[in-house]
Amino acid sequence: MSKPTVIITGAGIGIGHAAALAFGSAGYHVGVTDVLEAEGKATVKAIEAAGGSAEFHKVDVTNTDNVNAAVAAFEKKNGAIDAAIANAGIAHKVKLEDMTDAKWGHTLDVDLNGVFRLCRAVAPGMKKRKKGAIVATSSIMGVGYGWHDHVQYNAAKTGVVGLVRGLACDLGADQIRVNGIAPGYIRSAQSLSTVHSLGPAGLEKAAEYIPLGRIGEPDDIADVMVFLCSHGARYISGQTIIVDGGLMVGRY
Ligand SMILES: NC(=O)c1ccc[n+]([C@@H]2O[C@H](COP(=O)([O-])OP(=O)(O)OC[C@H]3O[C@@H](n4cnc5c(N)ncnc54)[C@H](O)[C@@H]3O)[C@@H](O)[C@H]2O)c1
Repeated sequence: MSKPTVIITGAGIGIGHAAALAFGSAGYHVGVTDVLEAEGKATVKAIEAAGGSAEFHKVDVTNTDNVNAAVAAFEKKNGAIDAAIANAGIAHKVKLEDMTDAKWGHTLDVDLNGVFRLCRAVAPGMKKRKKGAIVATSSIMGVGYGWHDHVQYNAAKTGVVGLVRGLACDLGADQIRVNGIAPGYIRSAQSLSTVHSLGPAGLEKAAEYIPLGRIGEPDDIADVMVFLCSHGARYISGQTIIVDGGLMVGRY
């Protein structure tokens, strides 16, 4: 394939969906993956409708075999993976007194281990070509804030920052760059959930504290993902970039 290629987890809705469209517009062939099959296939259709190319693979990031098989199938068909976006994530509200090992482990398995599984699967192909860019999704809850009733999310998203640093060291000699993005408050199913997150009213209230005066949209993050995989970002590795409209520097 002459086009650059990207594989994205959690690309059926939200930030991952916006990323898939942004990479499609930037000329990439897009591997759209998600547990949500209908939404993933709709993402492929939307990329094609915009003149791009894409394919869907059903992937649950908690399943190593599943991740490895999707990456292998994508590489077999398209030759090589230029960029990988480890974006799939969940944010479940759990009071500390209700935090079982299973609830703790589930979030860690999706938000941290799931990121690692994709990175591990794409690394050998990228190493062979001595070329590649990986972007993992952390959160402002991983780089600066604590979030009440979400201690497992805080831990997982902070873990992503360390994972990015370590992988940047392990893979740098093979010209593979690894970076993270820490989104602020972004309008998506995750943040719009009144059960697990701020909900619509809470999001609008949060906008009052954001220097740029608005909640982020998924494409505010997607465009930075594309940038981090581009030639323009050729000397950036091991960093987690905060993309929050100024929230973290403005809230004092
Ligand atoms: N929305 C925000 O304000 C915000 C802020 C900081 C970080 N994030 C992070 O951004 C990423 C994208 O979230 P979003 O806001 O678009 O939320 P979202 O709920 O809209 O999308 C999450 C995506 O991950 C997928 N997913 C969940 N579990 C999965 C699994 N086991 N295997 C494969 N896919 C799975 C979902 O199906 C969905 O497509 C997540 O890692 C999230 O934690 C979001």
